[in-house]
Amino acid sequence: MKVAITGAAGLFGHGLAEVFSERHTVFPLTRAEADITRAEEVRSVIRRSRPDVIVHPAGIPDLDVCEADPARAFLTNVHGTRNLVEAAREAGAALVYISTDAVFDGKKNAPYTESDPTIPPTVYGRTKLKGEQLVSGLPEFWIFRVSVLFGPGKKNYVERAVTRAAAGETFVASSDQLGSATYTLDAARKILEVVEARRFGLYHLSNSGVCTRFELAANAVELAGFDTRQVVGKPSSEIARRAVRLKYAVMAMEALGAAGFTPLRPWQEGLAEYVATLQPAASAQTN
Ligand SMILES: NC(=O)c1ccc[n+]([C@@H]2O[C@H](COP(=O)([O-])OP(=O)(O)OC[C@H]3O[C@@H](n4cnc5c(N)ncnc54)[C@H](OP(=O)(O)O)[C@@H]3O)[C@@H](O)[C@H]2O)c1
Repeated sequence: MKVAITGAAGLFGHGLAEVFSERHTVFPLTRAEADITRAEEVRSVIRRSRPDVIVHPAGIPDLDVCEADPARAFLTNVHGTRNLVEAAREAGAALVYISTDAVFDGKKNAPYTESDPTIPPTVYGRTKLKGEQLVSGLPEFWIFRVSVLFGPGKKNYVERAVTRAAAGETFVASSDQLGSATYTLDAARKILEVVEARRFGLYHLSNSGVCTRFELAANAVELAGFDTRQVVGKPSSEIARRAVRLKYAVMAMEALGAAGFTPLRPWQEGLAEYVATLQPAASAQTN
């Protein structure tokens, strides 16, 4: 199978390219190869590579950046996705869209299922939801909603917590945002499995279990062998940020189970595997 991957220099793009290239021919597309906001550039690169599947994690995932600049957020996350949808339609390719738990309002107190109503309170969430709607118009598509990502290839939340602790600095994490966490390599392997089985549709996808950001950061710091007192938990109302954060963003993996796929392992196991790869770099900073 030939697979084009947008945002290939990004955190999830890196993991997806690593996993898919073990079994398929991958065309990793960075911004230099194709700026997704430019329709003709996207079309021409897809025409040349003729992929069977386009995997599309590219976009602006930062809630505060999107809230500060809605026009840029819409241009990249919505218009960029529309360009990918049109290129996929023209090439007869199936499309994998990476979405987010931020499409929900965070007011439910039980895990969100794929059939729950989507009412995003942020610019970011609204742009991602619009992307989902565009992708759903294709004859062959998958949408995977993931939660906070960690993994190799690019700086991320977990790595920042460990790096700060290694340097003896404090890392402030919210103690009242309950959600899921997603190890990019675990999620990429599951996406590969679902894509190879051609079971199209909308899926929630994160590692099993729930955690607050504070628990995620403190666990990572502990696994890396640093002092967990470096991680300070605070209510999100005390952390100055432009976009509101969801108090509750736990996702249930109903669609995955219904289609006969096993859930991802607990987040603690994915985290342990990832943090083990960070240790030499983190330790070096204390010397
Ligand atoms: N990170 C999370 O915790 C999280 C949680 C839930 C869902 N998601 C979703 O997962 C996806 C991947 O997130 P991520 O953390 O991997 O993001 P990321 O590391 O920021 O990667 C996104 C990539 O998209 C590229 N990009 C941005 N604008 C572009 C443009 N106009 N043309 C071409 N490429 C462009 C970026 O390139 P540059 O490096 O050149 O800017 C970057 O490499 C996103 O769609 C996000 O909504 C992420």
